[in-house]
Amino acid sequence: MRVCLCNDLSVQAVEGALGAGARRVAEIFRRNACAPVCGQCVEAIRTMLDRAREDEEE
Ligand code: FES
Repeated sequence: MRVCLCNDLSVQAVEGALGAGARRVAEIFRRNACAPVCGQCVEAIRTMLDRAREDEEE
């Protein structure tokens, strides 16, 4: 499944960046060597970041 259509970023690509320590939306893009274009995926990426943070706190 694609999270970011502009950059062809998959759920796995975002999870990979999270697993590598990315904790900001900009870091997710940077670690995948891309940058936001339309911004429509930012909310979904933010939700994934929040979930990763919550998992760390548990
Ligand atoms: S869908 Fe991610 S920047 Fe457009």
